[in-house]
Amino acid sequence: MQNHTAFILTLLAAAVTPASFGLTVEHRHDHAAGTGPVLVHFPQQLRDHTLANMRDHLSALAEIQGYIAAHRYDSAAEIAEQRLGMSSLKLHGAHEVAKYMPKGMQDVGSAMHRAASKFALTAQESAVDHDMGKSVAALATLTQACVACHAGYRLR
Ligand code: HEC
Repeated sequence: MQNHTAFILTLLAAAVTPASFGLTVEHRHDHAAGTGPVLVHFPQQLRDHTLANMRDHLSALAEIQGYIAAHRYDSAAEIAEQRLGMSSLKLHGAHEVAKYMPKGMQDVGSAMHRAASKFALTAQESAVDHDMGKSVAALATLTQACVACHAGYRLR
């Protein structure tokens, strides 16, 4: 478990450097093949709630990508902050869910919320300097947090 946590954190740190991307994904794959994900028990109602949140996460990512493509960076920032970022913690009942999560899973969750809020700030910069690349890179870092948690944890 300790190893696992360290691994996920390394993965997240590595994901910050775009150049390390391919390598990061390969490592995750090797790891997943070796030990498999940790199974986490949530009460049924919380499980349903969490999966609904997850589907909203994915739809938020799609909306964000659409806004970036349209150079509507402020809208991309708004969606990221409200639905995935630190501002979304209350909406998701994060406090209630966190107590059922192993520490490593909580950490990846926090890293995702932070990455989303960081993305929102970066997108606001793009709105000013018209540099799309930095927003796409910040979005990739955010998405890597989704990947890291899915690689490490499953609900049962
Ligand atoms: C802290 C952990 C964690 C993070 C971060 C996370 N997820 Fe999940 N996600 C899960 C777990 C656990 C499941 C259930 C997987 C299972 O048991 O099969 C899940 C399931 C899903 C599902 C399937 C929902 C369904 O109806 O079955 C989608 C889609 C999804 N996540 C999208 C995302 C996206 C997009 C992000 C990032 C923006 C994300 N998740 C971040 C833990 C996480």
